[in-house]
Amino acid sequence: MPTPDVRSTVDTAIGIAVDGGLHHLDPADDLERDADTSFAAARERSDRLERAIVADPVGHRLLTGDRPTGDLHLGHYIGTLANRVRLQNLGVQTFVVIADYQVIADRDAIGPIRERVRSLVADYLAAGLDPDRTVIFPHSAVPALNQLMVPFLSLVSVAELERNPTVKAELTMSNRPLGALLFTYPVHQAADILCCGGTVVPVGRDQLPHLELTRLIARRFNDRYGPVFTEPGALLSAAPVVLGTDGAKMGKSRGNAIALGASEDETAAVVRAARTDGERRITYEPDRRPEVANLLTIASILSGEPAERLAERIGDAGAAALKRVVTEVVNESLRPLRARRRELVAEPEYLDSVLLRGIATVTTVAGLTLDAVRHAMGTTYLQR
Ligand code: TRP
Repeated sequence: MPTPDVRSTVDTAIGIAVDGGLHHLDPADDLERDADTSFAAARERSDRLERAIVADPVGHRLLTGDRPTGDLHLGHYIGTLANRVRLQNLGVQTFVVIADYQVIADRDAIGPIRERVRSLVADYLAAGLDPDRTVIFPHSAVPALNQLMVPFLSLVSVAELERNPTVKAELTMSNRPLGALLFTYPVHQAADILCCGGTVVPVGRDQLPHLELTRLIARRFNDRYGPVFTEPGALLSAAPVVLGTDGAKMGKSRGNAIALGASEDETAAVVRAARTDGERRITYEPDRRPEVANLLTIASILSGEPAERLAERIGDAGAAALKRVVTEVVNESLRPLRARRRELVAEPEYLDSVLLRGIATVTTVAGLTLDAVRHAMGTTYLQR
C-alpha cells in the first residue's frame, strides 16, 4: 500500500507514543537521524536489487500484499500496482497476499470481507496482474503459512517488536489499547513472505521496519537450525509521492481518494472538491504550493507531460481549469482499467476461482517450507 506521508505519520507517532503505552523510546532526534541514514542505505540496496532483477527476472520471487480494508485508489496504482504489473511482465515470479487476518489487527469487525476481497482481486486483474503468472491468495486460507508464526515468535523479543515505528503509528491511529495481534503482525507478515520463499518485497517507506524484522527472523532461524530461508530485499517504490485531494495522505476512508473503480462523475466530484490555494496563476512549486503541485503531479504521471509544462499551459486559467485537466487525464487513463473492472465484478465466480488457484499453489509451497522448518527444528521426530 502506498503511504506517501508515512514519514510524518511515523515521526508524529514516535512523539506521541510516549503517552501511548510503549516504552524504551530513544530520543526522537536520534530516531530521526537513524531513520534517515538507514533510509538512504535502504534506497541504495533497493537500487542494486532493481538492477539485479532486470538482469535476471526469473531468478527472483516477489511477494507483496494488501489488507482488504477498502477499495484500491490512484495512490495504490501509482505507488505499487503499476510496479507489480511491470515486474510480473518482466518475468519475475509474483505472489500477492491478501492479508485478511491483518484486518482485525486494529479493529474488532472483519467487515464485508467477501465483497472487499473480490473487489481487490478485480482491482488487481483490471490493473494487469495475470492469474496465469501471478499467484493471488488470502493468507487465512493457508494453514501452513499461519503455523510458521509459532516458531517465528520464538525468534524475536518483545523489546524488538516494541521498537517498530509503523506499529506505533498504527497503534496511535487505532485509538484503542494495543492488541497482541497488532503487536505481532509484523511477525505474521514475515510468515507471508518467507513461506513463499519471497526474495523481493516491493514496499513503501512505512513497511521497511517489517522487512527488517523478516530478515532478522530468516537470519536467526538459519543460525539456530540450519539454512532454510533466504533473506528478502526491499524494493522501494520509484514513483513520486501522490497525496489525496486535500493534501493529506490519500486514504480509503478519508474522502480524498480517487478509487480505481470510481465512476467518471465520482472522479470529477472528488477532484472538484480538491483543496488548492488563493493564487490564480497555476505554477509547479511543490514546497510553496503542495496542493496544486500534487494535482499537477497526478496529471503528469498519468499523461507523461512534465508538471512544469502542464502548469504553464494552464497558467492564468486557474484552479478550475487545472481540475478539469486532472479529471480528464485521470478518467482518460483509467478508462480501459475501469471497463475491465466492471466486467470482472460481474463475474464473482471467476474472481473466486482465481483465489482458489492461488490458495492451492501457496498451500503446496508453504507446506514444503513448513516441512523444511520442522525438519530443521527436529519436530518431525514422529515421522520416519
Ligand atoms: N502490511 C501490509 C500493508 O498494510 C500488507 C501486507 C501483509 C504485506 N503481508 C505482506 C506487504 C507481506 C508485503 C509483504 O500494506
